[in-house]
Amino acid sequence: MILDCDPGHDDALAIMLAAADPHLDLLAITTVAGNTTLDKATLNARRVCTVAGISGVPVAAGCDRPLVAKLRIADDIHGESGLDGPAFGEPSVPLAGEHAVALMRRLLLDHPEPVTLVPTGPLTNIATLLRDHPSVRPRIREIVLMGGSTGRGNITPYGEFNIFVDPEAADIVFHSGLPVTMIGLNVTHQALVTPEVVARIRALDTPLAEVCVELMTFFGSTYERVFGLPEPPLHDPIAVARVIAPGMVRCVDAPVAVELTGAHTRGATVVDLHRRTGAAPNAQVALALDVPRFWDLLVGALTTLPGP
Ligand code: BDR
Ligand code: CA
Repeated sequence: MILDCDPGHDDALAIMLAAADPHLDLLAITTVAGNTTLDKATLNARRVCTVAGISGVPVAAGCDRPLVAKLRIADDIHGESGLDGPAFGEPSVPLAGEHAVALMRRLLLDHPEPVTLVPTGPLTNIATLLRDHPSVRPRIREIVLMGGSTGRGNITPYGEFNIFVDPEAADIVFHSGLPVTMIGLNVTHQALVTPEVVARIRALDTPLAEVCVELMTFFGSTYERVFGLPEPPLHDPIAVARVIAPGMVRCVDAPVAVELTGAHTRGATVVDLHRRTGAAPNAQVALALDVPRFWDLLVGALTTLPGP
């Protein structure tokens, strides 16, 4: 799989889970502007790889702005650096020389098996890939994205951040005709980082676990300030978990439209769960997470990474 991300506290844990799991072959980590600017998100991806001891996985920078919209970042949640909390040293993991979209194209065309794409940021890189390189389409096994919601949003009343930042890109992906799975807020809010979860991570008693505790502590403090929710939802790793163990996330087929023009709802995912529109389903929409199994998977992954 290829992880396309905008680290970001929960993206950081998604990187660790994707790199650690023995069932996954993580071919690349690509970055996109979202939670923070492209430069900072890319630096953060390299920092995460360095602190987790992830080597040999190329990190490539992609699009620095949405297709049409002006970039909106989430520094209220992720801080000024995009990954506030721990003190990171200079990363030793290098930046790949290739643009993320070019790297994805090359990996997709060269790899003997179709490859799964897991976007956990705005969908700008993925939409650009599909728009500019349609020959890769048969090489994509599926797209399992964190974004959207069957209900309410988090950046606007009905807009989830990743979709809201680049709705035109999301529209291209949802209407690509490729197998798309949507891991939205309705399911990610089932994975709350409780004090018990933090205690389990702390008990691992490794330098990497300490970094994760610092990340989750900062993330919890901003969620409490912005949403009154001291136990933050760990959105992005759930998309990776769905690829590792599909049965962990229960999904239904449904039509999903992206609102591009609403006066108050631009960037909303309109999910026709009850099939009232007559539209054909274009996505598997996540509804329920096996929460204990998810935390076992994530905490287990942290024990297998070498660390700094
Ligand atoms: C999504 O927005 C970002 O802030 C998180 O990293 C996650 O991908 C949640 O809406
Ligand atoms: Ca993200």
